[in-house]
Amino acid sequence: MSEKVWIDGAPIDAHLARVPVFDRGFLYGDSVYEVLRTFGGKPFGMQPHLARLERSATGLEMKVPTRAEIERAVADTLRAAGEPDAYIRIMVTRGAGEIGLDPAMADTPRLIVIVRPVKLPEPALYSDGVEVAIVSRSRSPGQPGASVDPAVKSGNYLVSVLAIAEARRRGAYEAILCDGVGRITEGGSSNFFVVRGGRLSTAPLSVGLLEGITRMTVIELCRDNGIPVDELPLWPVDLKRADEAMLTSSVRGVLPIVRVDGQPIGGGKPGPVTCRVMALYDQKTRGA
Ligand SMILES: Cc1ncc(COP(=O)(O)O)c(C=O)c1O
Repeated sequence: MSEKVWIDGAPIDAHLARVPVFDRGFLYGDSVYEVLRTFGGKPFGMQPHLARLERSATGLEMKVPTRAEIERAVADTLRAAGEPDAYIRIMVTRGAGEIGLDPAMADTPRLIVIVRPVKLPEPALYSDGVEVAIVSRSRSPGQPGASVDPAVKSGNYLVSVLAIAEARRRGAYEAILCDGVGRITEGGSSNFFVVRGGRLSTAPLSVGLLEGITRMTVIELCRDNGIPVDELPLWPVDLKRADEAMLTSSVRGVLPIVRVDGQPIGGGKPGPVTCRVMALYDQKTRGA
């Protein structure tokens, strides 16, 4: 399969795709994006991802192309790439203009779609689980208006970049971020769940986090299959003392967490509830 990029109205080979240096996505991270994947050629969760893209754009007071335009671009790019299990990145920048902060200096949003073969974590990470580190970085604003709402998936991902760097320095696979008062919010590029007494819990949207599409799917799957699930504030101690834990994201799906800050969680192995949720998610996505 080849990597294809939809830009300036058509899919082209990825190595030929160019963005002007005056594009505000490049200058300021003035852009929004979504990442999803296909299963058997079909994008999973396209509508919720497009809805979140629109919410992110509203958060940045930015216009995005219509859903129909974006869906057509994705379909064209997928067709050109010809890969049943593809990674899809949909990006919309505010466009190019004179250098200057005033968003009115750019009036034509730029849509870019990247399609490439999906790259998954090693199978051992699914069977044995991963370690996470609770890091010092936070996506939560220190005070109202101090930074972009963490529910917005903008092109400025520096907090997560630095959070992952810190986690990797500490030998962990994923970073776990907290808000200003120390409640866990999410991973660097994932949401998380703990399992206690057979019940899943994840941080509520009110603590300030990206509303993951996989998080939402897992909550629905639990509700449909009689697994108790709730959204409530969680602290590092709740993760450390949990029976099981897992992280979720659109590309990786459900991945077991078995260690936090060097300490095992529960038995230090993926637990039965995690394995059940992984199987349900697998079934759901394969049947999509
Ligand atoms: C900060 C953050 N939280 C959560 C997620 C998981 O979201 P989704 O399940 O929609 O991929 C991501 C995905 O990239 C993310 O970047």
